Amino acid sequence: LRNGLALTPPMGWLHWQRFLCQTDCTKYPSSCINEQLFMQMADIMVSNGWLKAGYKYLCIDDCWLAPQRDKDNRLQADPTRFPGGIKKLADYVHARGLLFGIYQDVGKQTCAGYPGSQNFYELDAQTFAEWGVDLLKFDGCNYGTLVQLEDGETTLRCIICPYTSCIVNYTEVAEYCNSWRNFDDIQDSWTSVKLTMDFTAALQNQLVPAAGPGAWNDPDMLVIGNFGLSWDQQVTQMALWAIMAAPLLMSNDLRDISPKSTALLQNQEVIAINQDPLGKQGYKLLKVDNFELWEKPLAGGSLAVSVTNREEIGGPRYFTLVRAMLWKGLACDSCYVTQLLPTHHEYGYLNSSDDMSLLVNPSGTVLLKLV
Ligand code: DGJ
Repeated sequence: LRNGLALTPPMGWLHWQRFLCQTDCTKYPSSCINEQLFMQMADIMVSNGWLKAGYKYLCIDDCWLAPQRDKDNRLQADPTRFPGGIKKLADYVHARGLLFGIYQDVGKQTCAGYPGSQNFYELDAQTFAEWGVDLLKFDGCNYGTLVQLEDGETTLRCIICPYTSCIVNYTEVAEYCNSWRNFDDIQDSWTSVKLTMDFTAALQNQLVPAAGPGAWNDPDMLVIGNFGLSWDQQVTQMALWAIMAAPLLMSNDLRDISPKSTALLQNQEVIAINQDPLGKQGYKLLKVDNFELWEKPLAGGSLAVSVTNREEIGGPRYFTLVRAMLWKGLACDSCYVTQLLPTHHEYGYLNSSDDMSLLVNPSGTVLLKLV
């Protein structure tokens, strides 16, 4: 969407994958969806370097609403879990230099069954504006079919049809949204990360051309720092989300995250690949010997390259990167190569005749930058 926003993929935190729709604050006082949770995350995003690293949106997902609209049909937050109301929470977030995101659904009800925006688009947009909302995640549950959309509702088409069952014209979606989901909800598991990568690669001929400054395909949240991914799998998610120019919306518990996962998520060299101003989404080049090779063209003729070892058993294996495999064979006579992940390493200059041997851990990824 050409509204001057999201010229690079949005970065922030979104509650869904880690906290889902936990509304029982008696049983789960520190992980239910209430204002406390978001205020604590806001504090930590500032104190623990997340904002400084680029993560500036703090976003609420489903399950913040009261079961009913108010007497004037306005949306209201659940009064027990958000006693201060959303405006106050947004002010709290803004006071810390962060931006504030909220969630609604285009249909009659949200996916979790709270009041949706259907028949109230204008009023709800007004309400969000009054509260100071900076980002809206607009879900696509309980709407019925696209045919039911009336004229004038096109600007609300952001996340309708996010699931695999329907054919989407992504270039058209990009006219109305800064970012849109492509695939199933991500889970905190390697299976889910793999499925998401495979889906994105399978559809890359449609997805890649639709992406660019102001318009991003969203393979869903980063689950790094949770329970389900090994260290190498976390590296793979970070590397591939950077290559895919994906929104970097973490869903984890910033109050309880390891220093290693923190360093990975805050890695400025990797974030720079994701946030590269050219805004080109990367794509898979080939799969050979159960290695996947992806690349992402960067501003100034540079290139990010990732090699993922899709074997899950055995030890680290060597992949031979031949220059001719890469974009236009990579025209530079001599490129300066830096490994960004799993650790920083300067390879130095690589000549056009040189091949590179890269040792890649099972389900891990080596991420390179070629300048
Ligand atoms: C479906 C979306 O894909 C999820 O990310 C989340 O927003 C849920 N709906 C909330 O109900």
